[in-house]
Amino acid sequence: TQQRITVIRGDGIGPDIIDSALKILEKVGCDFAYDFADAGLVALENHGELLPQATLDLIEKNKVTLKGPLTTPVGEGFTSINVSLRKKFQLYSNVRPVISFKGTKARYEDIDIVTIRENTEGMYSGLGQVVSEDGNEAEAMSKITRKGAERIVEFAYELARREGRKKVTAVHKANILKSTSGLFLKVAREVGERYPDIESAEMIVDNTCMQLVMNPHQFDVIVTTNLFGDIISDLCAGLVGGLGMAPGANIGQDCAIFEAVHGSAPDIAGKNLANPTSVILASVQMLEYLGMADKAEKIRNALKDVIESGDRTTRDLGGEHGTTDFTQAMLDRL
Ligand code: NAI
Ligand code: MG
Repeated sequence: TQQRITVIRGDGIGPDIIDSALKILEKVGCDFAYDFADAGLVALENHGELLPQATLDLIEKNKVTLKGPLTTPVGEGFTSINVSLRKKFQLYSNVRPVISFKGTKARYEDIDIVTIRENTEGMYSGLGQVVSEDGNEAEAMSKITRKGAERIVEFAYELARREGRKKVTAVHKANILKSTSGLFLKVAREVGERYPDIESAEMIVDNTCMQLVMNPHQFDVIVTTNLFGDIISDLCAGLVGGLGMAPGANIGQDCAIFEAVHGSAPDIAGKNLANPTSVILASVQMLEYLGMADKAEKIRNALKDVIESGDRTTRDLGGEHGTTDFTQAMLDRL
């Protein structure tokens, strides 16, 4: 049966980069049926809420979603849509790969690192949020469970095996955050012992940031808790030329949302300037998830060729072209 995919084009540069990815998927012969759904500012304007029930229903029904960035309005009462989606559908792993291309602003050649970020617990648990009446004291609770830690670390080792990767580094701060990060590290060690074919390493998060900048080639797969993963994955994006290069997959038991790591980029929205690479690579992750590795490989190769030859690349990559020209360069190769 035909695969149905929910598509949320999103806000700002979202529609431009999503349309680019859809054209490329069509060109490599993907015969998907798309259900378009609104979320974010567009949904607030059209339906009076940021995340309409109809959108949630489509995400649930089709199980696979391709999503553009969403603007979360600043102010009281607006919780992040992305955080809500991850919680609602229990998308416990956030998979953020980065690869470097030659001739771009990448700081190093041959970078190939995947950060696996736990997506539902830790400092993002939303528990125990208290601000004192006078506003001078604030608290929030970080929660780690054995179940949550175990499934994310297992996910990291399984991904390493599947992708032929050699090493998993558990990143933590167990020396200071003895209870929460301590439990995460303890579970990570236990799980690592079950994968003797993969090298296991562990590193404290602050040192990890320094090591990533100084000597990134020592890393292969990184697995870590929610907040550390958020920060480290942006650092990794910076190593390969910026957020325009960074895709992310939110994967749960039977539901997945593929997206760019960056936001709606209001400063360049509507100007045909956005680099669609992030969402193109997110659709590559989606094809791999759906077992269509050959098509994923074709797109990745075309992308490498366009970017490394500098044929019609966008400004953030040092080129002079827009989203549509970049997309056409991809289509010409495919
Ligand atoms: P941003 O990621 O939208 O932009 C940061 C900088 O990166 C800007 O200079 C932008 O022009 C540039 N940039 C981002 N993507 C690019 C691309 N594909 N090509 C070229 N340049 C690109 O972050 P910002 O400005 O902090 O947030 C804007 C809005 O996005 C906010 O409303 C925020 O809540 C939302 N946001 C949404 C996310 C999501 O839906 N996953 C993630 C992060 C932010
Ligand atoms: Mg982030």
